[in-house]
Amino acid sequence: MGIALEADRKERAIERWLRCESKKAVGELFTHADEIRRQHVGEEVYLRGLIEVSNYCRRACLYCGLNINNRKQARYRMTSEEIMRSVDHAVKLGFETVVLQSGEDGSLTTELVADMVRRIKDEYDIAVTLSLGERTRSDLEVWKEAGADRYLLRFETSDEGLLRAIHPPLAGVLGRFEMLGALREIGYEVGSGVMVGIPGQTYKTLAHDIALFEELSLDMIGVGPYLAHPDTLLGQAASLEFEDQVPANVIMTCKVIALARILCPDANIPATTALGVADSQQGRMHALQCGANVVMPNCTLPKYRDLYEIYPGKKDISEASATVQELYEQLKFLDRKVGTGVGTSPAYEHKNILFGS
Ligand code: 5AD
Repeated sequence: MGIALEADRKERAIERWLRCESKKAVGELFTHADEIRRQHVGEEVYLRGLIEVSNYCRRACLYCGLNINNRKQARYRMTSEEIMRSVDHAVKLGFETVVLQSGEDGSLTTELVADMVRRIKDEYDIAVTLSLGERTRSDLEVWKEAGADRYLLRFETSDEGLLRAIHPPLAGVLGRFEMLGALREIGYEVGSGVMVGIPGQTYKTLAHDIALFEELSLDMIGVGPYLAHPDTLLGQAASLEFEDQVPANVIMTCKVIALARILCPDANIPATTALGVADSQQGRMHALQCGANVVMPNCTLPKYRDLYEIYPGKKDISEASATVQELYEQLKFLDRKVGTGVGTSPAYEHKNILFGS
């Protein structure tokens, strides 16, 4: 069979799973993904300390509460000292990776971020992940040189028209796919992903998104349900109805996670915060049982935590210390253990051996 035909067949199979409503069949999909997870990345669940360093954003995304047009949102930017205190908190909780995340904040200059990365890498033996949005290639190079290990940038949807509509492009920075290519070339461990159930997202495009995870050979795959924010244009357009709309719920998100695990068995896949918001009792635990192997507790200084409201409800589940206690108990219940070491994805390690690092 030709390669194009095979790819087409795969996407149609993915789409069938996304549409599948048989509880029994979906249960089997989840069990299979869980088994693949166990074989490829083991029983360890890696914890990453998420530090939301700034909620300033120059972008006008229609889905995100941090968008520049949301005047109701009070803004903050952590000082280097505050960031170091958060890192210290994360390290004391036993985390060996910190993720520095922010809106697209022009005041986080190339040098400021590079200094921060150097400081963390000098002081602690941990991995540093950046998640600072679309930047220039030279920024990415300088930060890698400074010691950054990983970068997260979701492509959100592979439907170009939909992406342009909800994420107006900005001149002067790399677009999402260009940037993922640049990150790979520079040598980062590369993470991407999508939101599930964006208004206007169809089953067909979501199936294509999932096929792309494999094609891009992602090292990390983050997937969460779209959650409507009342202070965004998309959140206010609740009555919009689209044909073939993917629902933004836990089960659909878990299907995407399970399919991602099956297609990218060696990737690190988090049980995302948005899943915890969609279902505070079961969301993340469910994901850990159908392919996920990472959790990212919030380690932002408490005084800023409520202000990073990309979607509503986030503040209710983002207390790191409490979450960690609870998390340990929940992991024990699932017969899983907390990972030790920096938890590089086997996908990245394989590529390094194959291509040389
Ligand atoms: N609902 C769910 N996820 C969202 N994100 C941004 N806004 C929302 C929302 N309203 C996700 C995007 C982004 C990540 C940091 O948060 O996927 O990449």
